[in-house]
Amino acid sequence: MIREMKPNEYGELEKFLYEAIYLPKGALTPPRKILERPELQVYVENFGARAADICFVAEVNGEIVGACWSRIMNDYGHPDDETPSLALSVLKNFRRKGIATALLKKIFVNLAEKNFKQVSLAVQKENSAAVKLYRKLNFKIVDERGEEFLMVKRLGDD
Ligand SMILES: CC(C)(COP(=O)(O)OP(=O)(O)OC[C@H]1O[C@@H](n2cnc3c(N)ncnc32)[C@H](O)[C@@H]1OP(=O)(O)O)[C@@H](O)C(=O)NCCC(=O)NCCS
Repeated sequence: MIREMKPNEYGELEKFLYEAIYLPKGALTPPRKILERPELQVYVENFGARAADICFVAEVNGEIVGACWSRIMNDYGHPDDETPSLALSVLKNFRRKGIATALLKKIFVNLAEKNFKQVSLAVQKENSAAVKLYRKLNFKIVDERGEEFLMVKRLGDD
């Protein structure tokens, strides 16, 4: 079941932010303390306070197994102050079942209804699973910096 995350569940965002950290092959799992870094806290702190703070989750047997959320924030995936950036992760045992696709499609519709024109995200170039998923959903690479692509998708174009 895909549904909006309830405000009393926003504490779970950190778990999904941790899952969203891309680890190149052979890299050590980072300590959870990494979430305290300011460049990661921007994704979750005071979530719900701003207009584009929207999160959809996938729930299976009462457990949240995937989350996709948007926020206008000054991360690398931030082309301008009108464009929400996205964060996304699905728990390992639930991948390749279309959950990320379903979450993204929900958030596209919701943001378009709120008159946002496009969404963006930063993705590690090596994260081929995510890059493939975003390309399938019509994200275009608009910039690259170091190890990351900046991708943008116009809303309402498909
Ligand atoms: C990337 C991620 C969100 C994909 O979630 P998912 O629910 O498995 O994605 P979907 O099932 O909707 O996949 C849709 C399509 O994306 C592509 N894709 C997804 N995972 C893939 C993989 N491991 N290898 C190759 N292609 C993949 C495929 O084209 C897939 O379609 P198909 O299954 O019909 O071939 C998930 O792997 C994840 O949480 N990864 C870790 C966190 C992360 O990388 N987040 C993104 C950071 S920008």
